Amino acid sequence: MAQQPREQWGTRAGFLMAAIGSAIGLGNIWRFPYIAYENGGGAFLLPYLIAMLTAGIPLLILEYGIGHKYRSSAPLAYRRISRPAEAIGWWQVAICFVVAVYYAVIIAWAVRYTWFSVDQAWGEDPDGFFSNDFLHVSDTPGMVSGYVAGVAWPLVAVWVVTLTVLIIGVRRGIEVINKIIIPLLLVLFGLLVVQALTLEGAATGLNAFFTPDWEAMLTGRVWIAAYGHVFFSLSVGFGIMVTYASYLRRKSDLTGSALVAGFANSSFELLAGIGVFAALGFMAATAGTAVDEVATSGIGLAFIAFPQIISSLPLGGPLFGVLFFGCLVIAGLTSLISIVQVIIAAVQDRTGLGRVQTVLLVGGATALASILLFPTPEGLHLLDVFDHFINQYGIAMAGLVLVVFVGWVARRLPVFQSHVNAISSIHLGLWWRITLSVVTPILLGFMMWDSLRTELTENYAGYPTGFLLAAGWGVAIGAIVFGIVVSLFPWKRADAIARDDAAQAAGAGAAEATTKEGDN
Ligand code: ALA
Repeated sequence: MAQQPREQWGTRAGFLMAAIGSAIGLGNIWRFPYIAYENGGGAFLLPYLIAMLTAGIPLLILEYGIGHKYRSSAPLAYRRISRPAEAIGWWQVAICFVVAVYYAVIIAWAVRYTWFSVDQAWGEDPDGFFSNDFLHVSDTPGMVSGYVAGVAWPLVAVWVVTLTVLIIGVRRGIEVINKIIIPLLLVLFGLLVVQALTLEGAATGLNAFFTPDWEAMLTGRVWIAAYGHVFFSLSVGFGIMVTYASYLRRKSDLTGSALVAGFANSSFELLAGIGVFAALGFMAATAGTAVDEVATSGIGLAFIAFPQIISSLPLGGPLFGVLFFGCLVIAGLTSLISIVQVIIAAVQDRTGLGRVQTVLLVGGATALASILLFPTPEGLHLLDVFDHFINQYGIAMAGLVLVVFVGWVARRLPVFQSHVNAISSIHLGLWWRITLSVVTPILLGFMMWDSLRTELTENYAGYPTGFLLAAGWGVAIGAIVFGIVVSLFPWKRADAIARDDAAQAAGAGAAEATTKEGDN
């Protein structure tokens, strides 16, 4: 059976923009600053850097290598490493489904808040406005008790944009949108940071952000936070980078691209930390309190603290708000697109359906789940629990299982090392294999064990056990079961694709040999 030729990125810059667009997302603007702050401030930058070098970048290169070598979605690519590994790919597809359904909702909130910023609709009480007037949050997690239209319609809009880009395709849709959004994001975010740095109290905020608490570094929690964040932020462990690299041309500089994407993501993250803490410094100065009293957790930081800051600005409050929430929207959109693309590519490979049909069917089903579940008074609780469990026991755990499988079970790291080295500018040495097969599994394994221990001794965020069992453990374990069950079904197309690919490679090899003979 002849396959349709696989879609390809138009240019290397196009691929890089898409990879950076996937990495830079809500995680950079909304998550990194408070995670860094909660885990030792300036001292967090060291575990963060170590996590980036010992796990993030090596795993990113591995994902690029797997996607590029097998030119397939995650399940098919892993199946071609070793038959049982296909389950890891479907597990990642399920993880992407779970992340997509709630990630879109945060973007939808940011869409509304971009608008609210213009006339500061939250009035004197941003906290009450967010929970009561906007989300209508209920006190009973797990009991569906209504539908919130004010969240639903921006959410529908987010899904329409996402699915439209995906229908248009990899090169004309994903690549084009990223080429527009990433430079725009840099300019808008740059303006925001400059505005934040000129505020009164900005220096105090930066002091709080950068002053290292060295003692914090001796606790396991800080290291766990660093590794967990690096995975989320770089978009590794989701199967996204396997999928994106599968659209690269045969001759592509994989290590160079991984370093550029990693560096761009971390630089943006640092810039976000600076911007957010300068603004918090201003907020603390206005309220006459310390920065640690105004720096709250993730959701609160963006949707409660920022409205307060916007309202207290003597000048340009609406502009500051539109810039901040507008940046959240566009940064989030390019990441959401990449997350849903993992599902689309996998289903296309599995069924042979066309792109448009797959996006309408599978992307439509994902959108529907998101639109039905989250614009409800329970949406915030559900989002919080999904996010916590799928990050810890989904993304990070799938990353761990993948490196252990490739490194120790299939023992294929040398194969990927040669593959990457044959086409890349910077060559991977033994350090890469040791990092992935020894350092990453030990550190990630410790992280899993430690966070599981805490999880089993106290209920996450004090939620009722039944709710955590259904929405937390149920979803995380459900994703694993889904992965295993789907991988057990026979997949004839996979074998046909592998045969076609082998024939193509043999043809290319023969052509190369003939050319070489001709050259001699
Ligand atoms: N990497 C994406 C983010 O940071 C998922 O939000």
